[in-house]
Amino acid sequence: MKNIIITGGAGFIGSHVVRLFVNKYPNYRIINADFLTYAGNLENLQDIDKAPNYVFEHVDIVDATAVDALFDKYQPEGVIHLAAESHVDRSIKDPLAFLRTNILGTANLLNSFKRIHTDFEGKRFYHISTDEVYGSLGAEGLFEETTAYDPNSPYSASKAGSDHFVRAYGETYGLPYVITNCSNNYGQHQFPEKLIPLFINNIVQEKPLPVYGDGNYTRDWLYVVDHARAIDLVFHNGKNAETYNIGGFNEWTNLNLIKVLCTQMDQKLGRTTGSSEKLITYVKDRPGHDKRYAIDATKIQRELGWEPSVTFEQGLGITIDWYLANQAWLKNVTSGSYQDYYKNMYANS
Ligand code: NAD
Ligand code: DAU
Repeated sequence: MKNIIITGGAGFIGSHVVRLFVNKYPNYRIINADFLTYAGNLENLQDIDKAPNYVFEHVDIVDATAVDALFDKYQPEGVIHLAAESHVDRSIKDPLAFLRTNILGTANLLNSFKRIHTDFEGKRFYHISTDEVYGSLGAEGLFEETTAYDPNSPYSASKAGSDHFVRAYGETYGLPYVITNCSNNYGQHQFPEKLIPLFINNIVQEKPLPVYGDGNYTRDWLYVVDHARAIDLVFHNGKNAETYNIGGFNEWTNLNLIKVLCTQMDQKLGRTTGSSEKLITYVKDRPGHDKRYAIDATKIQRELGWEPSVTFEQGLGITIDWYLANQAWLKNVTSGSYQDYYKNMYANS
């Protein structure tokens, strides 16, 4: 069996990647290395966690000794690295936590991978990154693989730093790597601090929908299962030392997206048309809020034959249905410390 370590496999995107790999590649042993922070939840993997080719390891990637022990134990041929602190608002409150996990954590993984392999033939370190490293677009243009890095939030700066470390290990030590920079994901199992699941949860509970600033910010949305399919393709067929942008060809201003979401929610909950929109509440803007993200994903489309498999309306429908059917999951993940975080978040709005 080929050993593949997937870090952050209990999180949102990671759990979809682990599921795809466990089901599709019985000849791989998938080692899910996750520290189970507030964002990591083994419930996300209940359907595959008894599979013979799946193993869970509780590891903090910031702890170099623990990472070394993990790599000594499994001698992985491949690493797919998703573990991170991922929420921009949290990075504004606690930037150093992002520096530690996203930069130091990534460097620890690179070091261990380099240490256990004297021969890199057939090995691959795949780093999952974000389009936020490119900064903000104006009204025109798209992020390309050649766009200069220009991160604005502590989160995006930490992801940019980690991308640079991966490249530097490739250049300096010949470590085989590939990097992808993806746009905003949505779908099942996303922690309800991010826009779409937060608003679904608030609409169900008839709580205010906190729109930052005037809501006139643009994001490019991609259904998470399509991101996992892209990760599978890049891991197996991507060229060494290359970057691929991944996006949904699907730009929405926050306000327009929220209106579509509200309409679908009214229909699904059997509420009067317009009742969810009445929950929209304008709150203080996010500091350093990037105006617009949009990805040019033609490289991965052209070279690897990837494209999204669902439309936004379909993906959003699947997502809403999942949250409505999994209220217990929502309740579990939003109990405890999340309540305090959420209260503090809007204390000064
Ligand atoms: P998430 O916050 O849902 O999950 C992160 C996972 O990492 C959790 O399971 C958590 O327990 C784990 N983790 C955090 N710190 C750890 C540590 N010190 N050691 C081990 N595990 C740790 O994140 P996500 O939204 O699934 O994002 C996954 C990756 O994809 C991240 O690297 C993120 O930067 C990137 N990304 C996310 C998006 C998006 O829209 N969500 C878009 C592009 C790229
Ligand atoms: O672009 C990829 C990135 O997308 C990922 O790298 C990040 O991990 C992921 O969190 C996401 O970052 P964003 O900051 O774009 O996502 P978020 O869901 O936090 O916000 C989306 C937009 O909605 C953004 O313009 C801020 C706005 N927003 C968000 C929240 C949570 C609101 O107006 N109100 C809110 O309550």
